[in-house]
Amino acid sequence: MPNSILVGSGKGGVGKTTVTINLGMALTLMGRDVVIVDVDIPTPNVGFHLDIPSDAVTLNDVVRGKASLEQAVFLYANRLKVIPSGIFIDSLEGFDPDAYRNVMKQINKKFDVILFDCAPGLGNEVVNTFKGGEMMVVVTTPELPSVADTAKSVQIARDLGVDVKGIVVNRSGHFKAEMKDAQVSSTINDLPILGKIPEDPTVPTSIAEGVPVVFGHPLSPAARAYKRLAYRLLGKKYVERLSLADKINLFLKNY
Ligand SMILES: Nc1ncnc2c1ncn2[C@@H]1O[C@H](COP(=O)(O)OP(=O)(O)OP(=O)(O)O)[C@@H](O)[C@H]1O
Ligand SMILES: [Mg+2]
Repeated sequence: MPNSILVGSGKGGVGKTTVTINLGMALTLMGRDVVIVDVDIPTPNVGFHLDIPSDAVTLNDVVRGKASLEQAVFLYANRLKVIPSGIFIDSLEGFDPDAYRNVMKQINKKFDVILFDCAPGLGNEVVNTFKGGEMMVVVTTPELPSVADTAKSVQIARDLGVDVKGIVVNRSGHFKAEMKDAQVSSTINDLPILGKIPEDPTVPTSIAEGVPVVFGHPLSPAARAYKRLAYRLLGKKYVERLSLADKINLFLKNY
């Protein structure tokens, strides 16, 4: 598995943060040492999704030399490491791209698996740090405007030397005229579809609870799809192991 993955998109609101957090939690539960870094500097959301206190040390504090990298690592549920970004407008003041680049280098050296939650269209702060050789997965909903914008972002990333591994189709089943997998893939440079996350009401419920779906609702359709994606990225085949109680629960939910 690549150790540093950018989670990007063309359009906003397609599910990058949800995918990043749940993929991070799924990989953590599988025993990997994961850190999620919120690099959606203008509109950071990871802290909201995980109910991280608004006075937590942030990436912005580290970039501005006000805190060490270690201090900015928030341990969620005693498991998942998260480096949140500053949600206040003043946390953007004095943002020095060189200092930011240096912090990114430190992060890359320090952790085993790093998932970067990017801004839509990648975001200038992230693009400025590209050295070439990074890996990326792109998230899109299966509708043309989102897919077409994703294709543009993939092109920009490739021009910068980023290795785009594939596509995560999110909210499958939600759109009336949903694009087929083959259409999505052929519109986005023939990249493979690495995962399909279904439309699932437990996703917004979990966001409101501040708990990743894979942690709070592990039997939900979305949670199982995130786990499948995690296995795929690890290069492993997903074999679902359900206890008898899980099977009964699933049966009761479906009928
Ligand atoms: N599989 C899903 N099923 C149902 N709703 C979903 C699903 N995935 C995401 N959502 C909804 O979409 C919203 C946006 O998701 P998310 O914040 O992950 O997108 P984003 O791409 O990170 O947005 P932004 O570009 O603003 O950072 C969520 O608040 C959630 O309600
Ligand atoms: Mg987001």
